Amino acid sequence: MALSAVVAGQQPQYPPAFPPTPILPSSINYAPSVMPTVMDLTAPNAQSICPGYTASNVQNGSSGLTADLTLAGPACNAYGNDVRDLTLSVQYQSKERLSVKIFPKYLVPGNQSLYILSPTLTPQPALELGASKANSDLAFTWTNSPSFQFQVSRVSTGDVIFSTYGSKIVFEDQFLELVTSMVPNYNIYGLAENLRGFRIPNNFTQTFWNAYNLENDQELDVNGHSVHPVYLETRYGNSSNSESLSHGVYARNAHGQEWLMRNTSITYRTIGGSFDLYFLSGSTPKEVISQYQTGVVNTPYLPAYWHLGFHQVRWSYQNWSNLQDVVDAYAAQNIQLEGIMNDLDYLKMNRDFTNNPGHYDVAPGKVFLDQLHANGQYYMPILDPNIYVPNPANASDAYPTYDAGAAVNAYIRNGNDSFYIGVEWPGFSVFPDFIVPQTQQFWTQQILAYHQNVSFDGFWLDVNDAVSFCTGSCGQGLVGENPIHVPFALPGDPNTSVAVDYRYPEFFNVTNATEAASASSALMSQSLMYPTPSATPTPTVGRTVPTPGVRNLTFPPYAINNFLAGHSLLKQVIAPNATHNDGPYNSTEYELHNLYGHTSGNATYNALKQVYPGKRPFFINRSTFAGSGNFTGHWGGDTNSMWGNMYFGISQALQFSIAGIPYFGVETCGFNGNADMELCTRWMQLSAWYPMYRNHNSRNTIAQEAYRWATTAEATRRIMNIRYSLLPYTYTLFHQANVAGQTVLRALPWEFPNDPSLKAVETQFMSGPALLVTPVLAPLATSVQGVFPGVANGTIWYDWYTLEKVNVSAGENKTLDAPLEHQPIHVRGGYIIPMQKAGNTTKTSRQMPWSLLVALDSSGKASGELYLDDGISLMPNATKNVELAFANNVLNITVSGNYNDNLPLANVTIAGVSSCPHNVSTGSTGSSGRAGWSGWSWPSSWRSSPSSWWSAPSHGQTGVVTCNSTSKVVYITNLQQATSNGIWTSNSMLVVQ
Ligand code: NOJ
Repeated sequence: MALSAVVAGQQPQYPPAFPPTPILPSSINYAPSVMPTVMDLTAPNAQSICPGYTASNVQNGSSGLTADLTLAGPACNAYGNDVRDLTLSVQYQSKERLSVKIFPKYLVPGNQSLYILSPTLTPQPALELGASKANSDLAFTWTNSPSFQFQVSRVSTGDVIFSTYGSKIVFEDQFLELVTSMVPNYNIYGLAENLRGFRIPNNFTQTFWNAYNLENDQELDVNGHSVHPVYLETRYGNSSNSESLSHGVYARNAHGQEWLMRNTSITYRTIGGSFDLYFLSGSTPKEVISQYQTGVVNTPYLPAYWHLGFHQVRWSYQNWSNLQDVVDAYAAQNIQLEGIMNDLDYLKMNRDFTNNPGHYDVAPGKVFLDQLHANGQYYMPILDPNIYVPNPANASDAYPTYDAGAAVNAYIRNGNDSFYIGVEWPGFSVFPDFIVPQTQQFWTQQILAYHQNVSFDGFWLDVNDAVSFCTGSCGQGLVGENPIHVPFALPGDPNTSVAVDYRYPEFFNVTNATEAASASSALMSQSLMYPTPSATPTPTVGRTVPTPGVRNLTFPPYAINNFLAGHSLLKQVIAPNATHNDGPYNSTEYELHNLYGHTSGNATYNALKQVYPGKRPFFINRSTFAGSGNFTGHWGGDTNSMWGNMYFGISQALQFSIAGIPYFGVETCGFNGNADMELCTRWMQLSAWYPMYRNHNSRNTIAQEAYRWATTAEATRRIMNIRYSLLPYTYTLFHQANVAGQTVLRALPWEFPNDPSLKAVETQFMSGPALLVTPVLAPLATSVQGVFPGVANGTIWYDWYTLEKVNVSAGENKTLDAPLEHQPIHVRGGYIIPMQKAGNTTKTSRQMPWSLLVALDSSGKASGELYLDDGISLMPNATKNVELAFANNVLNITVSGNYNDNLPLANVTIAGVSSCPHNVSTGSTGSSGRAGWSGWSWPSSWRSSPSSWWSAPSHGQTGVVTCNSTSKVVYITNLQQATSNGIWTSNSMLVVQ
């Protein structure tokens, strides 16, 4: 369709054809290129040419110090204008946290927002009551020779954990730099988001500028969708098994930035803001993470119970009956499906808060959703933060949502002038300015109104990096062309080089030779017929020289290494000079770009809380910042259907555990490219351990729902039953994350911090403290290797399936059987895992009787916890904590809290008994220990011999006990009747002698 042919009064056709009409200026698509400074060998070295600062007017107090910092020589203006006068503020904020701030001394409304990241945007930790230098774990020291430098050390050992000694502080309006020396071969982790190894290499540059590349979103080692400038460092002792010490560093700054990891130093550079550093003393990795989450950015929100179910989505589900078919197919295959999600397909021409006519009409949608909800299942459509600008020349293109936002000035602007108009999926679009209150109001109203039509159960908020597919405010004067096609072919666009995606995973040519050959010849013909349009050459902007008194927002003098072609900050985002409505500051995207995801996410979460008053909304966000975990989960972006992408998802999940976003998951089976049976099978197994579990796929690829291949379906049924049976355990982990900043997924060195051999393990991980997962990450494998930490110190591991003790020696990389339908899982001795048999949804699972898996350690002990509430209320009016402890052959159950759960205990399985028991008896205890046997107790006169059955002879209550004297496992089953009043109603015990 010729876009100019939109005739007043006629519905525009959709989708508009690709390529878009030539009427659009070619500049729409291309931002000038820049050479990243880290790659420019001729770039000035600020450390050589800048003078540093001198401290004076030092005021010491019991909880810290302040000082003036003054430029120690002529300004170097390396990559901006040097700020002559600074303030240093050091606070011993708590025993474990020290803050060091360096910011301009003269702040006025005109410049304040350039330097100070407002606490309304992300938390700013403050001094805690009673904190003082005297009781701090950390010490701050400084010197003026040759210029101001500082160190942070650990009081107990004197170890220096951060030191700018030997380097200068550089503070310019568009460039800040400090360098810390590091120990050789340092071990640091975190700095999400990036697809790379778990332990960050010592020769790596991390760029932070939220970005998106539709064609290959999941490149390794580049900037991603999120910015979390926090790292965990672990230092091991010199002798094996001596204690490691860990600390954390958080740099509270949202500007574009780079972290240059080098052999014995880290250089931290930002293109604006101030130094706002927080040092966390740990001293274990888990303590560092907890200190970050509880004391700095706020702990993760507690998901609703149902969020932990499995979700399916695909870009190209055409209509409600398509969704129904998917729901039905999962049911028919007996695979749990908790939620079905929609991608853009449900929207009318990709416009928010609409429904695609003839495909997703509201009335049949109600029928579909009523049925879905009646089944205990949920519906979460995508939401994008951009708003389509209707074509003013076409009355039938009216879009009331746009008008509502425009009326309250809810959109980002060009300076003080017109709305900033970029390109997003619907065409020329504006972008809500989520930092001002009227936008929250507008957004909430739209979401509430839409919910009247479509009873959705949450959102996944996309492209809030924030993406715009053109350069600058490219729609000025062009909205009469709307709706336009984005300036590149979308996956699946007919007659384009991406009409069909013919990519398959590694080794597909071995496992599926015939299909691989035909895919490769089809790819060849598609490429010949529709060659990929060559990119229009773009001008290159050389290094810009700072202009005195002026900030260059579009081409700052220091160019960060944005991975998108051309590297420029203008590439595929709202341009840095776009302006917010926060008078008197009029902040620009230059300052706020990395916060767009965070602020739009927060606004969406707030709106969803209005939709479901008092309940926990389902919400995941593509772009996050430090602090986002308090209200959102995150998916790992458009991953590729490749084994390597599956592999790196593990480190990505662990990065987000540090960042305080435990509700994380990746696009299972891969988004771009085709999955095959083997990859999808292994990925369904692996992702079953990620708290957010969904399968998602692009438009131009083959279907990959878990039921598409019989083997994948079978493997999924098996792993999904395990996942669902572990929901009580996982939910308890989330509760601990919420109250104490514990993580759900854990790296091996976090649970076993004194074993240096674990420091880079990224092929195995733990779910909580008790479960070790060893996924298969390579094609054609029927076995997998894994380590079993702690064995040297007596840790026992049990095979999840047989409960037999693993026969493994310390440090052994053990080969484990892993046929395709099987995923190795091991249980750590010393832990008790509460479970419920898997139902077909989380709701039915929650109604199943309880069971306990008691995995004994080498001294015959184990313990565990269970947290219970209604699973949905933001502020539950009743909760319950259950302490489980097994020692001296007695399992003690201690309950506190008044949440009412009347479900019986069906089974107790004990792994690792020294011999089979002779007596098993149960009873309730008074509030203090073993006194007061009553209720469902039965005589302890049961007879037993190994591997035999027992029945309780009295009260008509039966229990069945089997014991396998070889594997040393006791199965106590059929306890339901004896515990029919509910097992968690009072303290109780089980004696197994
Ligand atoms: C990008 C998202 O990451 C992806 O999940 C989605 O399918 C596309 N946008 C289209 O909405």
